Amino acid sequence: MKIKSIYICFITSVLFIACAPKQESMENLITDRLDRSLQQYAGMAESLIDQPDKLPVSMDAEGKLRTTSSGGWVSGFVPGTLWYLYQYSNDPALLAYAKNYTARIEKEKYNKGTHDLGFMLYCSFGNGLRLTGDTAYQSILLTGAESLSSRFNPVTGAIKSWDSHKDQWQYPVIIDNMMNLELLFWATKVSGDPKYRDISITHADKTLENHFRPDYSTYHVVSYDTITGQAEKKNTHQGYADESAWARGQAWGLYGYTLMYRETQDLKYLEQAKHIAGFILNHPNLPADKIPYWDFNDPAIPDALRDASAGAVIASALIELSGYVDASDAKRYLDVAETQIRTLSSPEYFAEKGSNGNFILKHSVGHKPNHSEIDVPLTYADYYYIEALLRFRELLK
Ligand code: GLY
Repeated sequence: MKIKSIYICFITSVLFIACAPKQESMENLITDRLDRSLQQYAGMAESLIDQPDKLPVSMDAEGKLRTTSSGGWVSGFVPGTLWYLYQYSNDPALLAYAKNYTARIEKEKYNKGTHDLGFMLYCSFGNGLRLTGDTAYQSILLTGAESLSSRFNPVTGAIKSWDSHKDQWQYPVIIDNMMNLELLFWATKVSGDPKYRDISITHADKTLENHFRPDYSTYHVVSYDTITGQAEKKNTHQGYADESAWARGQAWGLYGYTLMYRETQDLKYLEQAKHIAGFILNHPNLPADKIPYWDFNDPAIPDALRDASAGAVIASALIELSGYVDASDAKRYLDVAETQIRTLSSPEYFAEKGSNGNFILKHSVGHKPNHSEIDVPLTYADYYYIEALLRFRELLK
């Protein structure tokens, strides 16, 4: 009797394993999702082709595409995603769309009123330059780097993020700003002028000194006293609370210090990136599918909203970081990035063709405390998801 039940148990297990759905290979999954993304973005690009002043932002409650002028901080992400999809496909139609949408942002090269020029110009013109070598793009980027560097103040040792909120902060610097430093490193390499690189390093050092808590989570906003250069306030703007860990902020920090290491080879930035990765990956509130809640400390967890954009940025950053660390950390980072890509590529997050305002991913959170962009598609979720797919694909070659 006992032998019979062991036998039945064995047969049942074999059948269960044999019948379990086989996981799609990463190679097939990535190719399939890039093909489908290409169709979505071709549809999106075509839908605004006769409205050259508009760039996609998100989708409204009625399912209509929301747009911005070139001055919006997200203006560069759709052009950037079009460039990535052209890189993947070599499709001349994608090239034409990428050029068209990139040209829409050119005038922002003179914009000295925002720290977001790196996002706006480097994702668009930067990718365009990398893929076409067009020298006109180079000069636009250099002008943009000059405009961005005008926001650096040697007393605070940082690039000012916002000119708004004057009653609240003297000199607000947000963790997101780390992402804009890539444009400045590029500008020094091309112009030979060390100023841009120096500004980036000073800014990253100041941020390292003041933005991080002992557990390596980051504040969103640190404001500096413009006379002493000391931090005067540490707050949030888009997170749950001043002392909480807003998910996208952690993602920007991880990506930012990973790029700092890439550009400088300074080990202190690598250590910082590893510490930030440790905070995210070991956090008890990081779900098993590795897409974070919009804020790691929202008391509504496990019923809080997820943020696909934070998941996509973290995935892309972890893939890069895996190239700079020892084999066991690299495996840990790539396992998480793979899980994130699989989750974002599942029907829960990946939109059906023609739906979701032609964006690729669903379920991002833009600015919850402001009650805006909650559980919607967002351009930067798509941009960093496609970047992560392309980065992971390189590892499979
Ligand atoms: N840089 C603004 C945001 O991440 O929402």
